[in-house]
Amino acid sequence: MKNIKQRSSYRMIITIGALLMLISCTTQPPTDLTGENIIPKPVSVTATGDYFCLGPKAVIYVQDQSGENSAIGNYLSSVLKPATGFNLEVKQTGEIPGKGNILLTLSGAGQVGDEGYILTVTKKLITIAANKPAGLFNGIQTLRQLFPAEIESKTVQDIDWHIAGGTITDYPAYSYRGAMLDVTRHFFTADEVKRYIDLISAYKINKLHLHLSDDQGWRIEIKSWPNLTLYGSKTEVGGGVGGYYTQEQYSDIVKYGDEHFVTIIPEIDMPGHTNAALASYPELNINGKAPELYTGTEVGFSTLATKKEITYKFIEDVFGELAKLTTGPYMHIGGDESHVTKKEDYIPFVERVQDIVIGLGKTPIGWDEIALGKLRPGVIPQYWSSAVNANKAVEQGAKLLMSPSSRAYIDMKYDSLTRIGYTWAGLIEVDKAYNWDPATLEKGIGKENIIGIEAALWAETITTMKDIEYLAFPRLPGLAEVGWTEASARNWDEYKIRLGNHAKRFIIMDIGYYPSKLVPWVE
Ligand code: ACM
Repeated sequence: MKNIKQRSSYRMIITIGALLMLISCTTQPPTDLTGENIIPKPVSVTATGDYFCLGPKAVIYVQDQSGENSAIGNYLSSVLKPATGFNLEVKQTGEIPGKGNILLTLSGAGQVGDEGYILTVTKKLITIAANKPAGLFNGIQTLRQLFPAEIESKTVQDIDWHIAGGTITDYPAYSYRGAMLDVTRHFFTADEVKRYIDLISAYKINKLHLHLSDDQGWRIEIKSWPNLTLYGSKTEVGGGVGGYYTQEQYSDIVKYGDEHFVTIIPEIDMPGHTNAALASYPELNINGKAPELYTGTEVGFSTLATKKEITYKFIEDVFGELAKLTTGPYMHIGGDESHVTKKEDYIPFVERVQDIVIGLGKTPIGWDEIALGKLRPGVIPQYWSSAVNANKAVEQGAKLLMSPSSRAYIDMKYDSLTRIGYTWAGLIEVDKAYNWDPATLEKGIGKENIIGIEAALWAETITTMKDIEYLAFPRLPGLAEVGWTEASARNWDEYKIRLGNHAKRFIIMDIGYYPSKLVPWVE
């Protein structure tokens, strides 16, 4: 009796489940994949007129010999879960998936490089093929944008999870697509940095450069020089309490970055922009006396004592500890605006610091002034202000990171009324941040001389996550496209329509974006 009852109730559950699956994809589906508003714009999109519907029983199949990729399958499952309510199972297997499933595979992608992918959507199956896990991750970011905007919701949404059928083949124009966040002028917590990683990685930005030291504060624990944080971290612009990351917190940020295919690049700015260190240790000063902590916004008044050996012991210790916390290949040595360092001292200093970082097994990046000296092979100068310095770097055979302040400094105001931000590099409306080509911006600098681009967000005028979001969005998605999509395939008038269609996503993701009048927002 009990068995029969049990069996009939099982049957009932199965029938209800099947019915639910049937009725769960009943609304009018999208059928034109070429009409989707993907940012950054992919290399090629072809439509079949078909569509796929994601249901609660879908399985994410992960095909790869190494076994390490179940992490990316779990990531996809976790991205889709909050809004769909589906607990999608992840199977690491060579099995051929049946109808209604998702396949992530590291074979069959062909000529899409390390970060590219081929995303194929049929009525039966979603397939993302890539050569490397980074490509699968990028394909997943595109997939997120193909679902209705509600996919970004943190609560279960009662809608059909349709996507249009076809094939997207995609790979980046530049391998380095970065964002820089200044955590010195105002401090941002590890959780805020992680949210920024979430936001930038959704647009396929793959580097986060953290500006960890400046005149106004030292933000990373260095165990061999404890006063840097015991004293030097305790303030910020305007006199707030500042803050710093313990090495454990910093490692946690690095790990979170790695999980989102975002390489964290630590910057210790020197020999200028060093008041917080100079205030913490008198012996680093030319006159042996520690200055007061600084909470203003002037630049160019501080310098390490470049002729003292203790300075190089300090630098070796700081970068030595940082190298151990850094999983990526780069460490940033600053080098900008050292107005009170004599040129004859500055040049040997930046050359020696490059050697220290290279000796630790990392590749130095430095602001464009470092090209005044001899650049070590492989070192990356970051163009921000001086085309003369950038050309000096190219003449030395270096590849540049492009952050022209008039385009990529997203701490500039949008217009004269913007409530936060600076104007010294000009007003940067959303079209100005988008409408430039790194490979033609400066005479003498072509695509072959460029590793990529970086959107820099300095923090003199910003204090909250909402401030970060307001200045970064919507310029950051545009700069992500500058880095990902070939200039010949980009066009503002077409882009602004795609961008306008991201408004709903921004709102659901609780991004406090600037609603520029230049963009036809569709909320
Ligand atoms: C800079 O903006 N001082 C690199």
